Amino acid sequence: MIILGIETSCDDTGIAIIKATPKKTGVDFNILSNIVSSQIKIHKKYGGVVPNLAAREHLKNIKPCLKKALKESKKQPKDIDLIGATRGPGLIPALLIGTNFAKALAYKWNKKIIGINHIEAHILAALIEGKKIRFPAIALVVSGGHTQIVLMKKIGDYKIIGETRDDAAGECFDKIAKLLNLGYPGGPIISKKAEEAKTNKYKIQLPRPMIKHKNYDFSFSGLKTAVLYLTQKNKENIKKENFIKELSKEAQEAMVDVLTQKTIKAVKEYKAKTLILSGGVAANKRLRESLKNKLEKESSKTKFFVPPISLCTDNAAMIAATAYLKYKSNKNTSWKKIQADANLKLS
Ligand code: KG4
Ligand code: ZN
Repeated sequence: MIILGIETSCDDTGIAIIKATPKKTGVDFNILSNIVSSQIKIHKKYGGVVPNLAAREHLKNIKPCLKKALKESKKQPKDIDLIGATRGPGLIPALLIGTNFAKALAYKWNKKIIGINHIEAHILAALIEGKKIRFPAIALVVSGGHTQIVLMKKIGDYKIIGETRDDAAGECFDKIAKLLNLGYPGGPIISKKAEEAKTNKYKIQLPRPMIKHKNYDFSFSGLKTAVLYLTQKNKENIKKENFIKELSKEAQEAMVDVLTQKTIKAVKEYKAKTLILSGGVAANKRLRESLKNKLEKESSKTKFFVPPISLCTDNAAMIAATAYLKYKSNKNTSWKKIQADANLKLS
């Protein structure tokens, strides 16, 4: 089956074409093209994504992305069997561009179409490399908009057992980077600075919010405020590259510690057979390494799945793969049925 995926929930316009072939142990996904047009340059000067600017850029880029995806995959509209488009959660002006474009294609080309939950797609991106989830599974979804620990009994059966009460992990990286004048998006820059930190001259210590709480919830806004106070107290040091590197390292460690501790606790409590790490922040090397090491020590039989870095951040290949996995249980495949929903819940 050939599936066209469309992603416009935030600031990346994504169009992908994949081939899905069922096999005994799962599904073989072959990515034929995976085009991502990033808007980072546009939003950089605002230190975050501006919804209406994102929509304008999606509108401009979506058709050229489709052309490129078709060309790269050597496919034509007649070869497409199914369209999957992100319908939420996300920024409504951005979502509307993708869902309406998808609807128009489905109508014009007479194709089946299904609306996809962006968070579910982040989780299922872990399957693109041909892996098979053993249940129950725990998924840690960490992105710019979400931080959730999800208990999965099967594909399509999700229970959020913990989530952030304020900022998402990616948002926290982005806000800290903004405070340090490092640019946007913050995650990759903070992690690069952290890697470069070879000294511990300033002995910086940041809080690990809610690490001792018995529940699986998170809170990252206090961490950002702690960094703000630190920058106000260190007006001279902040100009020094080593201080920035040490601070980046400590901020990253604080986030990684809390995310690791709570996730492994959930793995143990729910006797998870698989742990999935996904979402943009899953591109973070320290977080990948920390979860893997702690899992090996504390629950060595649990399998650890994390998508390749290119499939962690927003992309349409994960939307196409999810469309395939959800297609059989989805009865509403008419272009008339798909609707954007900014607050779409995982269900
Ligand atoms: O999943 P994603 O591409 O978009 C949303 O659905 O939000 O996630 C984007 C987020 C941004 O906040 C970005 O700073 C963060 O993922 N991110 C990272 C890394 N790469 C991207 N955070 C930490 N370390 C990284 N290497
Ligand atoms: Zn995302």
